[in-house]
Amino acid sequence: MAKPLRVGLAGLGTVGSAVIRLLDEGRDKLLARCGRPIEVVALNARSRGKKRNFDLARFRWVGDPVALARDPEIDVLVEVIGGAGDPAKRAVEIALAGGKPVVTANKALLARHGQKLAAMAERRGVALNFEAAVAGGIPIVKTLREGLNGASFTRIYGILNGTCNYILSRMEQDRLAFDDCLREAQRLGYAEADPTFDVEGHDTGQKLSILASLAFGTKIDPAAVYVEGISSITLADLDAASELGYRIKLLGVAVHTGEGIEQRVHPTMVPKESAIAQVMGVTNAVTLDAQGLMPITLVGPGAGGAATASAIVADLADIARGIVTAPFGCPVARMIANRKAPMQHHEGGYYIRMLARDRPGTAATIARRLAQQKISMESIVQRHGLASRGATRPGRSGEAVPVIMITYATSEDAVRKALAAVRRDRVVYGRPQVIRIERA
Ligand SMILES: NC(=O)c1ccc[n+]([C@@H]2O[C@H](COP(=O)([O-])OP(=O)(O)OC[C@H]3O[C@@H](n4cnc5c(N)ncnc54)[C@H](OP(=O)(O)O)[C@@H]3O)[C@@H](O)[C@H]2O)c1
Repeated sequence: MAKPLRVGLAGLGTVGSAVIRLLDEGRDKLLARCGRPIEVVALNARSRGKKRNFDLARFRWVGDPVALARDPEIDVLVEVIGGAGDPAKRAVEIALAGGKPVVTANKALLARHGQKLAAMAERRGVALNFEAAVAGGIPIVKTLREGLNGASFTRIYGILNGTCNYILSRMEQDRLAFDDCLREAQRLGYAEADPTFDVEGHDTGQKLSILASLAFGTKIDPAAVYVEGISSITLADLDAASELGYRIKLLGVAVHTGEGIEQRVHPTMVPKESAIAQVMGVTNAVTLDAQGLMPITLVGPGAGGAATASAIVADLADIARGIVTAPFGCPVARMIANRKAPMQHHEGGYYIRMLARDRPGTAATIARRLAQQKISMESIVQRHGLASRGATRPGRSGEAVPVIMITYATSEDAVRKALAAVRRDRVVYGRPQVIRIERA
């Protein structure tokens, strides 16, 4: 029989233990497809004594992840520890420096150090595969790196965080508040005890920076991503969106504009009938727009042991077959600097919800401030009053009246300036809610 591919597995948590299970279950199929077996021969985790859902005695335990990376008896390192720092970073560096291919699910490591690690892999002519790092079980990395390598992408956008999509779906379907849905997500194991990284959009931002590099051949630049989370979204926004024909999703969007690559993560209104709007619960989805191609949407499980292990095993299968490609599709030496398109120049439609003070002149003041910034309205919904008398019911002077507006395409800068002026004029209570609308 052909020589097996000997795997060193660093990390035995949700993903690591699922990799062991999947390699066991898929043993014969993988042998048939790759022409050689793929076997975990050595492993490591933080605690040797911890109870595992597999028989640890079958494998050789190595003292630490770096020693595992150096181990001469392994052909490839699988890093599923997590985190942008050591020991994950050091273990991956040691493996690559020693000419060993690496498979990792670690988006934090790749967003921060992906270029440097890719350059090391390219120098040594070995694979650095990371399908599992973005959108879990959806083969988006391979699609961008290989399947659509010849495409000229204009935009790539997606639902890249299952926790946020679960929360927004539950809020909409069961009319629950954000905090209630978050607690439910934590109870079901979809959200971390500290959910900030997910709900404030940073997880999506890291993943988007990796996808943008793959799609546009640019250097990875997580600092260039504008990030806003979903914690300010209310039922009132979801209801208004629905009435207006939209659904609210946390999207990561990377667009090739005349100025450079605009990378942004924020709650987004997408037309209810669009493919991305149909994606509910913890599911992920990515839509690719490229010149001369109809949009392509990939939908599937974004996380979970089985889905993530499926991506890792596929990456291992490529290594077993001897396939080596530049980790980001474009060799590092030919990646172009990421020219950041400033968020203030973003152009699109906007949803604005404000609580207006019901007193004479408010409507005229708001209209004037918007007109000064050349913002035109596609629609305005006013729940009642606003000194317009005779609308639905007259309001008491000073009463807070919800006003919902949809603008035609305008710029971020114009919206921010108009709303700042409206607040200075003291015709609204609090900070207006602003949600960007995405053509999808
Ligand atoms: N979970 C998912 O659905 C998912 C999806 C996509 C990508 N990922 C990525 O996959 C990676 C692993 O995620 P996970 O959910 O499997 O995490 P996890 O369940 O927390 O497992 C982490 C593993 O790393 C080990 N570990 C932690 N610190 C260590 C150290 N200093 N030295 C050696 N081992 C150490 C832990 O050891 P002990 O078991 O002894 O504590 C554990 O086995 C992360 O990069 C994550 O972002 C996860």
